[in-house]
Amino acid sequence: MLSLVSEEIELYAEQNTRPEPEALQKLMAYTYEHMELPQMLTGRLEGRMLKMLVQLAQPKLIVEVGTFTGYSALSMAEGLPQDGKIITCDNDPDAQKVAQAAFDASPFGHKIELRLGEAIDTLRKLDAVIDFSFIDADKVVYLEYYETILAKTRPGGVILLDNMLQSGHVLHPDDAASKAIHKLNQIICKDDRVENVLLTVRDGVQFVRKKA
Ligand SMILES: C[S@@+](CC[C@H](N)C(=O)[O-])C[C@H]1O[C@@H](n2cnc3c(N)ncnc32)[C@H](O)[C@@H]1O
Repeated sequence: MLSLVSEEIELYAEQNTRPEPEALQKLMAYTYEHMELPQMLTGRLEGRMLKMLVQLAQPKLIVEVGTFTGYSALSMAEGLPQDGKIITCDNDPDAQKVAQAAFDASPFGHKIELRLGEAIDTLRKLDAVIDFSFIDADKVVYLEYYETILAKTRPGGVILLDNMLQSGHVLHPDDAASKAIHKLNQIICKDDRVENVLLTVRDGVQFVRKKA
């Protein structure tokens, strides 16, 4: 993934952000050593931002689309109240094994429930009111993830969507993912049901709040 800000600034921002707990640093190191496409993991800046937003929003139910090795789920679990819960889904059983081991070893892991399978099926089956969600899986399906989650989100609830700048390709969308994401950015921006701000953190995060 191409960095949208200079590497120097990205590094400066990381150095001036409190480090994540050691367990998350180890999970990141393990992911980079053993997994394909380790750069999919959100990392320190976005992970700390997720934790902070969860701390502020105090959700009871978080839904995550795209667990990978569990870094973002564990980051959010850290900020979650004791009675809060995260349902996270992925269709990669190998990544889920790594995530489950990390959850089992973490004091926050008991708040996280993994669901294996196609994310859109998991979302459609979910019979619950969602307070907060983080969408980070198949970019081409983001619109369906967004619509399905928004319908189940309580008024005032938050939806975060990752990779909404597609390494800058949204400026001249030239592949299925960047075309889908550019279209969704335009849809969200005109969607009367929500308020939004597109943050230029990492690869772009749409910060959406369902109107009360
Ligand atoms: C960008 S990674 C998620 C990174 C994770 N949120 C983190 O910060 O560590 C995307 C994940 O979505 C999963 N994924 C992709 N398409 C999917 C689908 N159709 N259904 C479920 N999971 C999917 C992939 O297996 C991958 O683990």
